[in-house]
Amino acid sequence: MDYKELADKAVEAKGKALPTYSKFHVGAALLTKDNKVYLAGNIETSSYSLTICAERTALFKAISEGEREFQAVAIASDDPDFCPPCGACRQVMNDLCGNIDIIMINHQNEIKQLKLSDLLPFAFGDENLK
Ligand code: THU
Repeated sequence: MDYKELADKAVEAKGKALPTYSKFHVGAALLTKDNKVYLAGNIETSSYSLTICAERTALFKAISEGEREFQAVAIASDDPDFCPPCGACRQVMNDLCGNIDIIMINHQNEIKQLKLSDLLPFAFGDENLK
């Protein structure tokens, strides 16, 4: 699947969000190495800090289905500009996905592509626990 198609799926995934309190919809489309796509939106609760972002929801869905190898995640949101993944999601993706491609789509349907390592340089990870 090309990354434009993946980005379109992230836009579609905004429809899965449950942003009860912020009203800010985020959609994530996570692509496995064997070209399966997992979609998710952000999910909020009345105890705000227990919210889970779209990216982690998609990743935990995929992991719980047995997936272990990922190539990219696409992110779309209600922000007209590109929506970068939050710090917590960067750490979790670094640990569970490795240095995947991060694809962001804005409201002009433009795509920005970065590596996770661009967004989380000098990361803490498994190596530090040895
Ligand atoms: N959010 C995401 O789902 N992903 C991001 O990358 C940034 C923020 C969600 C969390 C919360 O539900 C809402 O956006 C506002 O912060």
